[in-house]
Amino acid sequence: MQYRTLGNTGLKVSALGFGCGAVGGLLVRGEYPAMRRAVERAIELGVTYFDTAAMYGSGQSEANLGAILRELSAPVLVGTKVNLAPAELDAAGRAVRRHTEASLRRLGRDCVDVLYCHNFVGPRRQGGWAAAADLEPVLRTLEALQREGKTRAIGFNGLGDSQAVHQVLGLGGFDALQTCYNLLNPTAGQAASAGYPFQDFGQLIDRAAAQGTGVVAIRVLAGGALSGSEERHPVGTAQVGTISTAADYAADVASARRFSFLVQEGHAESLAEAALRFALGKAGISSVLVGVSSLEQLEAAAQAEAKGPLPAAAVARFDQVWQGLAV
Ligand SMILES: NC(=O)c1ccc[n+]([C@@H]2O[C@H](COP(=O)([O-])OP(=O)(O)OC[C@H]3O[C@@H](n4cnc5c(N)ncnc54)[C@H](OP(=O)(O)O)[C@@H]3O)[C@@H](O)[C@H]2O)c1
Repeated sequence: MQYRTLGNTGLKVSALGFGCGAVGGLLVRGEYPAMRRAVERAIELGVTYFDTAAMYGSGQSEANLGAILRELSAPVLVGTKVNLAPAELDAAGRAVRRHTEASLRRLGRDCVDVLYCHNFVGPRRQGGWAAAADLEPVLRTLEALQREGKTRAIGFNGLGDSQAVHQVLGLGGFDALQTCYNLLNPTAGQAASAGYPFQDFGQLIDRAAAQGTGVVAIRVLAGGALSGSEERHPVGTAQVGTISTAADYAADVASARRFSFLVQEGHAESLAEAALRFALGKAGISSVLVGVSSLEQLEAAAQAEAKGPLPAAAVARFDQVWQGLAV
């Protein structure tokens, strides 16, 4: 397992991170012995970064992860996230503190390693999204919590409206961010092709890396669509909402199949492996999260990490596929 530094924080994280979210769902809907074994196996494989959030299973993921890590006495890094309801945004500082204390209680810890604001950001408040301007008081409170020793690093969610996300990055105070980077939407890591049909993240990863902000990549398997199959694991979420790709999951699966040449020509054993290796090969990403429904998926992710980046000659053909998505 490779280890990378999370931006300027000095924290070393494994290149492959364990996603404890709802899509893979193991830490939310799995049987306790199965989730415990998966966490234990991840640690054996060298995974040292575990990503959870208050929202995952309404606190269930934090509670399960906390219990398992206490049982295993494992010295790994834990990131969690606080999400503010629209009504809480006017007194964001108090809400961030309240949610942080609740997360620490569920995790059974005095502090975490990374504490993120989970809200998507936009030019203005809308639905569950915070306005970019709301992130300023959130940042001040997270900084205070950091000084008080409740978290070692602080971050935000680089999702929502691209311009708003860049505006928040421009505040300069966050140590880390999470954002989407995958074979269907690589725009956080390279210029969008002409006519590219999905959200353009405007090379967010490169800009973050240039200013020393750590990047944790999410959706590297497009929520599972990059398996190339619409079939869902029973532990996984039955219906996956897409993020920054096509409007529906079936369309993402169809787009994913355009990368089948990688398997047919022997560059990768599966599309999922190719997708993981693509993200792991991107400079500026500290940890690539994978959501897993089973121990087998975790093993496959670790095997993909061990294989290293995809061959440059294969990657050179991706632009043609991305241009094709526009048609
Ligand atoms: N910051 C945020 O707002 C945010 C948003 C989303 C996720 N996250 C984080 O990112 C983590 C990853 O989740 P994600 O939503 O981004 O999902 P993802 O990792 O892109 O996809 C996970 C899905 O991929 C499929 N999969 C995994 N390994 C596979 C393999 N070897 N072969 C075939 N299919 C495989 C599984 O589908 P099946 O279940 O159908 O088998 C699994 O549910 C989350 O746990 C969370 O920690 C953060």
